[in-house]
Amino acid sequence: MAEIINGKAISEEVKAGVKTGVEELFDKTGVRACLSVILVGDDPASQVYVRNKKIACEACGIKSIEHRLPASATQDELLGIIAELNADPGVHGILCQLPVPKQIDENEVLLAIDPRKDVDGFHPMNVGKFMTLKSFEDIVERGVFLPCTPHGCIELLERSGVVLKGADAVVIGRSNIVGKPVAMMLLSKHATVTICHSRTKNISEIVKRADVVVAAVGIPGFVKGEWIKRGAAVIDVGMNRIDDPTASKGSRLVGDVEFDKAAEVAGCITPVPGGVGLMTVAMLMKNTLTSATCFARNKA
Ligand code: GUN
Repeated sequence: MAEIINGKAISEEVKAGVKTGVEELFDKTGVRACLSVILVGDDPASQVYVRNKKIACEACGIKSIEHRLPASATQDELLGIIAELNADPGVHGILCQLPVPKQIDENEVLLAIDPRKDVDGFHPMNVGKFMTLKSFEDIVERGVFLPCTPHGCIELLERSGVVLKGADAVVIGRSNIVGKPVAMMLLSKHATVTICHSRTKNISEIVKRADVVVAAVGIPGFVKGEWIKRGAAVIDVGMNRIDDPTASKGSRLVGDVEFDKAAEVAGCITPVPGGVGLMTVAMLMKNTLTSATCFARNKA
């Protein structure tokens, strides 16, 4: 039976470290780390994510400012808010919750955020720096913002004692938010990385060879238990809401992996909920502290 990777405990550890750092920064410099979150529209999942980010800020001593725009907001309105936040010296992190409504060009929004405040790590400047640096250690040292969900996956693997150097890692999914960056991070940790996606042939055969599986396709139960190699580490990034008349809400959250069957053979596995999702927020808090620390240093 697999070890269940405790995302709650690990994320609490990360946030406790951030809280200490936030208070130290305040005591030394008078700078209170501050994150500004923009939510456009009323997507229910995004509302939950934004609320969780606010709660985490409170727990870490980070000031949080929320900007809510209606689903009908124009691109210029959104860009106007971003420009104000870019210019505000009291704001260290800016995050626009994705997805944005159709009339808004997501790439333009990400490009508009000052890369020094891009705590999501989605600005092409941060993506480019991250792609061209030699090693993961280098990335951290140079103050590049790493995207939170993939960084959380790496943190979970490392804190669970999974050896990445030389490991066969298979990433399922190729999104800009998770699949592509987590593949690059695994590569910089010296894993041999294969990226699979919806058009991949013989996906089960590829996954069966993996020492490390990261599933980020957004399809409930897509990764079958019998695909998992005995002893493999399985990170499930999926957050899929499915109908369940026996649940109190009439639905429940499940991942991309057939959890029960995979847990019989895996060495370790993340649950959904209680795994990667909590780490995303913890890594966001860490990036916000990093940003505030850089701003305080440059001000001094
Ligand atoms: N939507 C889903 N994941 C994320 C994330 O990590 N950051 C933002 N801004 N939006 C998201």
